[in-house]
Amino acid sequence: MHTPLIAPSILSADFARLGQDVQSVLDAGADLIHFDVMDNHYVPNLSFGPMICDALRKHGITADIDVHLMVQPVDTMIEAFAKAGATMISFHPEATMHLDRSIQLIKDNGCKAGLALNPGTPLHVLDCVLDKLDYVLLMSVNPGFGGQSFIESTLEKISELKQMIIAKGLCARIEVDGGVKVDNIQSIWDAGADMFVAGSAIFNSDNYADTIAAMKNKFK
Ligand code: DX5
Ligand code: ZN
Repeated sequence: MHTPLIAPSILSADFARLGQDVQSVLDAGADLIHFDVMDNHYVPNLSFGPMICDALRKHGITADIDVHLMVQPVDTMIEAFAKAGATMISFHPEATMHLDRSIQLIKDNGCKAGLALNPGTPLHVLDCVLDKLDYVLLMSVNPGFGGQSFIESTLEKISELKQMIIAKGLCARIEVDGGVKVDNIQSIWDAGADMFVAGSAIFNSDNYADTIAAMKNKFK
C-alpha cells in the first residue's frame, strides 16, 4: 500500500508572496506541491507556466513539484517543465494527438508520468497505457477552477480504478484533485486514492499545519 500524500494546489496560494507561501505549506506538513497549469484553451482559465516553477526551485523549494498540465498541445510544455524542475507531470488524454508518445516524453525527461482524467472521461482510456503510468489523476471537479464541490460519483471511479490496477498487478498511485476537504478525505482514501490535492481547503484555512494534520489524521 502506498503512503498517503497531501499535495496542496498552489492555485489557491498567495501569488504576491508565492515562495514564502509554498515554503510555509511544506513546513506545515505538505508532502509535495501540486502545480496547476491552465492555458485558456484546454480550460477556460489562465494560471502560470514553467518560469514560475523555475523561480520556486531558485527560491530553494526542494520538494516534489507535481505539474498538472491543463494545456493543449502538451508536448512542448512537458519539456519546458522538466527543465524548470518538475518531478511529476500529468496531462489530459484529450489534449494530445499521441498518448503513448507524450507519456514516454515525460519519462525521457526524467519525471514521473501521470494521466489526468476529467469527470466525464471513462477509465477505458487507460487500457493501453496504464502499465506505463506512475500515477493516474482523477479529477473530482471539472478542470479550470479551484474552490468547486467534489463530484460524489468520483468515489466509485476511484474504486474501479483501484481494482483495475490490482487486477493488472500494477502499483500506480491514484491522485484525486478537486473539492478535497478535511470532511471528505477519509471516504476518498477508503475508496482507494493515495494522493490528495487540496487547494482552497488548505490555503484558505487559518492554520495550514492544523488543516494538514486533520487530513492526515483521517488516514489512521
Ligand atoms: C482544477 C485544479 C485543482 C484545483 C483544486 O482545475 O486541477 O487542482 O485547484 O482546488 P480545490 O482544492 O480548491 O478544489
Ligand atoms: Zn490540479
